[in-house]
Amino acid sequence: MNNTRKYDTIVKIEKSGVRYNAWTADGTKMTTDITTRMRKKAFNSTGYLGRYNTKSGNARWAVVSPTDVNTDTTNDSAKSSVDIPNEHAEIMGFIHSSYSLKPKGLMMTELKWKYLIRSAVRGKNIMMTGPAGCGKTMAAKSVVNSLDRADFYFNLGATQDPRSTLIGNTHFDKDKGTFFSKSLFVEAIQTENAVILLDELSRAHPDAWNILMTVLDYGQRYLRLDEADGSDTIKVANGVTFVATANIGNEYTSTRVMDKALMDRFTIVEMDVLTEEDENSLLTYMFPNVDSKVTSNVAKIAALTRSESNSDTARINSGVSTRTTVELMGLIYDGFSLVESAEVCIYPQYDNTGGVDSERTFVKQIVQKFCDDGSSDDLFNEEEMAEAEGDAS
Ligand SMILES: Nc1ncnc2c1ncn2[C@@H]1O[C@H](COP(=O)(O)OP(=O)(O)OP(=O)(O)O)[C@@H](O)[C@H]1O
Ligand SMILES: [Mg+2]
Repeated sequence: MNNTRKYDTIVKIEKSGVRYNAWTADGTKMTTDITTRMRKKAFNSTGYLGRYNTKSGNARWAVVSPTDVNTDTTNDSAKSSVDIPNEHAEIMGFIHSSYSLKPKGLMMTELKWKYLIRSAVRGKNIMMTGPAGCGKTMAAKSVVNSLDRADFYFNLGATQDPRSTLIGNTHFDKDKGTFFSKSLFVEAIQTENAVILLDELSRAHPDAWNILMTVLDYGQRYLRLDEADGSDTIKVANGVTFVATANIGNEYTSTRVMDKALMDRFTIVEMDVLTEEDENSLLTYMFPNVDSKVTSNVAKIAALTRSESNSDTARINSGVSTRTTVELMGLIYDGFSLVESAEVCIYPQYDNTGGVDSERTFVKQIVQKFCDDGSSDDLFNEEEMAEAEGDAS
């Protein structure tokens, strides 16, 4: 180590799967600027590299110790009073500059996104909650992609046999006899710094919840291979982060109510249902070629159904989701009219029983307000309509 050198940039080397990534304190990734050999060498010694200029003006990297690097030559006394641990400063830098990592097509507030990233880098178990089709899976996948760590995906809602998905199977082979093959999940939890997505945890079989109890408990963090006490356990590796999604909203009475003890093991990140304005910007961003008047009508229909479903006198159980508005817009983009698109995309989601008093009739009337055929039912009073129009402008 050479203490007389002036380093203009310090990076920390972090291992991600088989890669060695280089990050500056403010979260800039420098991996491609440095050879793999150099990054690996640093990772196996101090964990840090510093960039300096040679006499001939070329930038070079050298292994440095984070405590004795000479980055600032002018005002050491002023600096020494601020005692932010190096690693803490780096993590903060990463969190607060992370909004740029959010995909443009995902609508989520900066605060929620940063909270999500922060929870992930701090190794919290994260639970994304919100009604159907509001972007939980999309946000969870986006955070996994942004972190550049080994990732694993498990859809627990679709799993019939939690034991084989989460633990493994016992097989019989006539040569080997009975043997146990471990699940992918076992591999996942043994992978350091892995990000493990547990999609649709709220729809999982209660057996899955029981198996996950010890895995998710910060004090335990192990998987028991067998229900029996004293059976083999597998430790969750360092830095493993779990990101789960759950449909938890007042309209989800059919979803099994999740166990309180399991819920307690998670940091909740609630996905917001989009406002009319955000819905409109998302749809405009995704479908720039669709007539903006039609796009704004779709956003209004969604907003009206959502506010209706939340009102005390709600005549429908749930609002039109963002998943549905995106599908609807796709049809419109492909040349279907709003009426036709609604007929195939929206109405089937609403109960048809009860004739004129049915949920479907109610939603149809909302949609028709925004269609050109001029049908005018007096389902909404003037005030409600003015409000809906006013919200849009
Ligand atoms: N906040 C959002 N930003 C951008 N797109 C969204 C958003 N919410 C929903 N979408 C759109 O809806 C689709 C479905 O979203 P996603 O699968 O993430 O919903 P979910 O909340 O996981 O639903 P479910 O509860 O049914 O699992 C996405 O592919 C995307 O096109
Ligand atoms: Mg989902």
